Amino acid sequence: MKNVLIGVSGGIACYKTIEIVNQLKKDGYNVNVIMTKAAQEFVRPLTFQAMSGNVVVTDMFEPANWDMKHIELAKNADIFAVVPATANIIGKIASGIADDMLSTTLMVAKCPILIAPAMNTAMYENAFVQANLQKLTSNGYIVLKTQDGLLACGDEGKGKLLPFEDILKEIKDILNNEKRHLKS
Ligand SMILES: Cc1cc2nc3c(=O)[nH]c(=O)nc-3n(C[C@H](O)[C@H](O)[C@H](O)COP(=O)(O)O)c2cc1C
Repeated sequence: MKNVLIGVSGGIACYKTIEIVNQLKKDGYNVNVIMTKAAQEFVRPLTFQAMSGNVVVTDMFEPANWDMKHIELAKNADIFAVVPATANIIGKIASGIADDMLSTTLMVAKCPILIAPAMNTAMYENAFVQANLQKLTSNGYIVLKTQDGLLACGDEGKGKLLPFEDILKEIKDILNNEKRHLKS
């Protein structure tokens, strides 16, 4: 059974990741989820736990993780997908920062890492965010594009998370070593 590790960072699109986890689980993958503190403001870990059937990891220093859960999760993952990926987590990866469970586990991982950005258009077009995304791409991360549309904040433009079906297909294609057609 293939292991899919899903990182959820704190964007409004967090709720869309629930369906990705649900489908992956139904399709027979073992799915583990790591949530940032901000992500837990949008969706409770319980929802991802119920969908994945695995305990959701949120805290580096939780006694249950004293066995270095970040190393174990990273080593076992066949793919690590960050959905949605905030400007913040993108910046942390690009800068080599590991200050929570998600960023630390991302630093350990050697499997294919997929980044699905989602943010306000101005954030997405910010020069530092674009430079960070470019940095990730040139270091072998699979950075998906966003879609244009009406954002939760009322703005219209780039930065909207791709439809969950597209992200799901991309994850499966990578696991099956197929063409990465959505790569930006
Ligand atoms: C209602 C609301 C929606 C937000 N949506 C996004 C978003 O879609 N993308 C993003 O990059 N940040 C978004 N943020 C800001 C992040 O939550 C904030 O930058 C946070 O520090 C991210 O932390 P994390 O990357 O550790 O999850 C939002 C904040 C609020 C209050």
